[in-house]
Amino acid sequence: MKKRITILIVAVVAVVALVAGIEMYRGHASERNNTMATRQTQQSKTTGSDKAPDQTKSGKTLVVYFSRKGANFDGNLKVGHTKVVADFIQKHTKADEYEIVPVQDYSGTYDETTDQAKKEQQENARPKIKNPLPDVSSYDTVFIGGPIWWGEYPMIVRTFMDAVDLNGKTVIPFTTAAGSGLGNTQEAVRKQYPQAKVLDGFTVEGTKADGAEGQVNDWLAKIGY
Ligand SMILES: Cc1cc2nc3c(=O)[nH]c(=O)nc-3n(C[C@H](O)[C@H](O)[C@H](O)COP(=O)(O)O)c2cc1C
Repeated sequence: MKKRITILIVAVVAVVALVAGIEMYRGHASERNNTMATRQTQQSKTTGSDKAPDQTKSGKTLVVYFSRKGANFDGNLKVGHTKVVADFIQKHTKADEYEIVPVQDYSGTYDETTDQAKKEQQENARPKIKNPLPDVSSYDTVFIGGPIWWGEYPMIVRTFMDAVDLNGKTVIPFTTAAGSGLGNTQEAVRKQYPQAKVLDGFTVEGTKADGAEGQVNDWLAKIGY
């Protein structure tokens, strides 16, 4: 009799232990499933709607410019008008910047400079650039800026364009001028780089460059930057 009672107690304890074990496993399993579900939701958030911003529209951007400080018809400029615009573009697009620096600078009076510029244009000259040219291989977009000199880019900008192949990239002209707007710069860029995507350029009167940041940003937004 005593033996039977002992067997019964052992059997009851074994069943209770088995049931408790099953329940514990179930608890762990559902906890694990919940954790996995949470992880999957987090993953789909980072690879789905919260994915990194689209870098493809501007990629890596370079702002190239030539600008002449000093004696201009509208005063003695501490900073050239085109540089002011170049800096606004750089600030907005977080681009790298490259200034075209001529070997023979244009530091004469305004009249001397216009004479020199006219001569270079008539001779279709390619004045030498002093600083090393940029490696443009990693850039998707290149802005090219300059003042309008006799209706077009100064010839030193043409030196840059001859030396640096921007075919296959997005190229965007910008200028400052007294009244000629973009002059023929857009056409010059298209002709130079037939395989480039040339977007609508920006121009502002040089004397209004300092106050043109809003205009520059509006234009950049319009063309997708
Ligand atoms: C040599 C020279 C030629 C110029 N030719 C023109 C021109 O044909 N049309 C125009 O609207 N402005 C002309 N300008 C005015 C400049 O384009 C204008 O002042 C520009 O904002 C200067 O830019 P920068 O300070 O970056 O050099 C000329 C200026 C110079 C010095």
